[in-house]
Order: sequence, then C-alpha cells, then structure tokens
Amino acid sequence: MKFDIITVFPEILNSYFNESILKRAQKKKLIKIKTHNLRDFTKDKHKKVDDKSYGGGVGMVLMAEPIIKAVLKVKAKKEKTKIILFSPVGKQFDNKIAFNFAKKYNHLIFICGHYEGFDARVEKALQDFGFKVQRISIGPYVLTGGELAAAVVIDSISRQIPGVLGKNESLEEKRFGIGVPVYTRPETFFCKKKKYAAPKVLISGNHKKIDEWRRSKIDKIRK
Ligand code: ADE
Repeated sequence: MKFDIITVFPEILNSYFNESILKRAQKKKLIKIKTHNLRDFTKDKHKKVDDKSYGGGVGMVLMAEPIIKAVLKVKAKKEKTKIILFSPVGKQFDNKIAFNFAKKYNHLIFICGHYEGFDARVEKALQDFGFKVQRISIGPYVLTGGELAAAVVIDSISRQIPGVLGKNESLEEKRFGIGVPVYTRPETFFCKKKKYAAPKVLISGNHKKIDEWRRSKIDKIRK
C-alpha cells in the first residue's frame, strides 16, 4: 500500500511516520508513505497556497490549482487509487472503512485541508479526471487541519495490512477483539498503601482458563 499525503506541514507527519510500527512496516516494504509539500506546487515566488474566501469570511482558503497539480504529480497509472479529502463534514471514519480501504486499494492520496478548508472545486475537478474521491472526517469535532486526520487514518489502515502487526498481536485481536484488559510485571504493586494485584488466572499458565477469562472480560465490555 502506498500513501501519498499532500500537506502544508509535511514535517509534522514525517516525525510520526518515522517511528515504531509504521517505521518497521516501511522498512519491510509493506507500506510506503510519502509527504508532499503543497508549497512545491505553487507558481509564485512566495509559494502562496491560500487566499481570501470569495463572498467574504474570516479565514483563508487553500487554492485549487496547487492541490490538483500535486495530485497529478503523485498519481500512478496502474494503481487502484482513491483520493481522500479531509474535512470535518466528511463520512465518519471507522475500522470498517480502514479494512475496506486496505482491501480495495493499493494507493491512497490524502489531501489535508487547512485554514477554512480548500476551494470547493477541488473535488469536482479531481472527479472529472476520473479519480475516486471521498471526503472523510475522523470525528465530530473540528481540527485546525487534516494532518492529524491523515496520521490517524494511515495508522489504522496500515495495521490492517498483513505483516504490519506482529503475528501474535493480530492473532490476539482476531480472537478477542480490541479492549481486553492486559497486565504486566510486577504481579503486585502498592500505591498509597493500596495493593494492586494482577488477576491470578493470567499467571496460572492455564491457557484454556486464560482464554475463558479474556472472553468474559470482552463480553462485559461490549454489554
Ligand atoms: N479537518 C478539520 N476537522 C477535521 C476532522 N474532524 N476530520 C478530518 N479532517 C478535519
């Protein structure tokens, strides 16, 4: 899976993607993540990417042309590509969408909005080029830009790609779902004279009992 992100703040994202599991996944060539600075697709010497909103309004709007130029630069001929426009009023992202994107596409292009968003003609123009385009929101709140949304979406899609998580991690998730309580050393610790002990069953070595316990915990969480 290849991720291309068009943004005015590539450095924010690069530091996140170059750590931990996503770093390992890139090294193993399971995913490829590339950020593109929108300013590199401008014509003027000031690298202007935004302008005032027609009809008035306080904020600045990202201009359409640099965004479209950037997409045309990163598009690939033979890939199954989808373009995601981040917007607080897009379709609400969830694990099901992450799974479907991981299955259906091998190239995702993300456009991070900023300021008051981007020129509304971007979506139509990209569709006219024949691209599949979707507006995605990561939650019912307004962020200052789409960069955090891109990090969230790329992270959750990547972990659906076979090999990105370790075998044990993905197996555990399949068996029990997400949210099973976990414990590590020490078996017991004290805090303000109170004792906090890990459940005995997890230390018992009895895997049948451990599975039953985990399943019961998950059932409780879901209720
Ligand atoms: N840009 C601003 N708010 C956003 C949100 N909630 N999701 C995605 N992109 C956004």
